[in-house]
Amino acid sequence: MAELSGDYEIRRFEVASKGEPGYSDAESWVKAVAFGFHESTRTPEHVAKSLETLRADRRVLTGAYQTGAVAPGSFRADVPVATFGTFRKTLNIGFGRTLETQLVTAVTVRTSHRRRGLLRRMMSEDLALAKHDGLAMAALTASEGSIYGRFGYGVASFERTVTVDTTARFQLNHQAVGTVDVADPRVLLDLAPDVFDRVHRLTPGSIGRQEWYRQVASGSLARDGKEDPAIKVALHYGPDGAVDGYVSYKFLGWDTVPHTVRVVDLVAATNEAYLELWQFLAAIDLVEQVTWEEAPLDDPLTWALADPRCIDSSDSRDMLWLRILDVINALEARHYPVDGRLVLEVPDPLGLTAGTYALEAAGGEAAVVRLDTAAEPDLTLDVSTLSSIYLGAVCPVTLTAAGRIREHKQGASLQARGMFAVERATHCLTHF
Ligand SMILES: CC(C)(COP(=O)(O)OP(=O)(O)OC[C@H]1O[C@@H](n2cnc3c(N)ncnc32)[C@H](O)[C@@H]1OP(=O)(O)O)[C@@H](O)C(=O)NCCC(=O)NCCS
Repeated sequence: MAELSGDYEIRRFEVASKGEPGYSDAESWVKAVAFGFHESTRTPEHVAKSLETLRADRRVLTGAYQTGAVAPGSFRADVPVATFGTFRKTLNIGFGRTLETQLVTAVTVRTSHRRRGLLRRMMSEDLALAKHDGLAMAALTASEGSIYGRFGYGVASFERTVTVDTTARFQLNHQAVGTVDVADPRVLLDLAPDVFDRVHRLTPGSIGRQEWYRQVASGSLARDGKEDPAIKVALHYGPDGAVDGYVSYKFLGWDTVPHTVRVVDLVAATNEAYLELWQFLAAIDLVEQVTWEEAPLDDPLTWALADPRCIDSSDSRDMLWLRILDVINALEARHYPVDGRLVLEVPDPLGLTAGTYALEAAGGEAAVVRLDTAAEPDLTLDVSTLSSIYLGAVCPVTLTAAGRIREHKQGASLQARGMFAVERATHCLTHF
């Protein structure tokens, strides 16, 4: 039997260089994560490659370790029974503004140690530490929808899987202004971060990417830790000849009916590059459909197609979950397209930033002050709900209809919708 809840030590550490003391702790941690997500046991080479990418991102690895004797024959005490990874990147919060954000990932608890409060302990401690460091926001992507609301996270962006019919039916109402050509996938090791950076600065909800992305897009690192020779790459050149978009993709094989290409990564820094990369994908001979698992919900492709029903999409899902750690700093960081004043009562289940706040927006800038608790709010919404509306992709009027927001002043939800709007569709191309 495993031990009771108090008998664990929580340790946080960064990835040591190979050969340095502490490297084996990082190896054990990566193996525990792979176990938690039901992967095959990783080879030492695969573990080493994973650790290189984690070190490049300056990840902090958190592990829960048994402090007493472990059961004979079971995993050794230096293999954590629970894992929790964090790193920091910027989040685009609309109108070109960014906010440094605590990204939470690799959350696992070994089956024999679950429901003893380990996730609650690691999450509560980590959020408090991030807030102590001055961060106003945390984010994650969730494997299940019912776990993270209790910690104050709310769904803030969506994505969907699309299957696009690229037979003769595919006709785009778009005159190309640039060109597309195929390239050696390796060029993305250099190009991908720059192109992504442009997209990141343009797109509300975008999160800065980890090292892993350029490796995957260029075929340098597949999920099995090896190179992926099936990866193909096409680059988009703008009218000035500079690369402003790329698509990394794979043909799924002659046995697939209809013959299909799967998009691995599609990053376009201009509206034209996006449509022209789709024109390229649709023009690939001997292929009748293209799938992409990370497509936006509000997709310009739909509106550029002569027949929007070329897109088959049955799988819309939550993507980014946000957790405001500091209401004043998070709200003051944003740009507001509409002037106005809202008094928000914000309960917080972890007590990190509970309070009643007056948000006053004028000329795009906001001043936020904490009021005494007797102040009459316009809206009551818990921190998870406030986090949901923060990127403009979730409508406060809908959340009021759902009972998630209580409207004390008529029209305040619609006012919040206008104030929290962003300049273009929210979409996050970074999974972590
Ligand atoms: C999800 C997981 C991390 C939970 O860890 P845990 O240590 O058992 O969680 P805790 O004991 O700290 O429970 C914390 C709270 O979350 C709830 N909870 C935990 N897992 C849950 C789940 N899958 N669905 C709904 N609620 C869940 C608990 O009931 C508890 O609620 P309470 O504190 O309000 O009473 C663990 O089950 C796991 O490793 N799952 C597989 C990997 C995974 O899904 N990871 C998430 C990746 S995003």
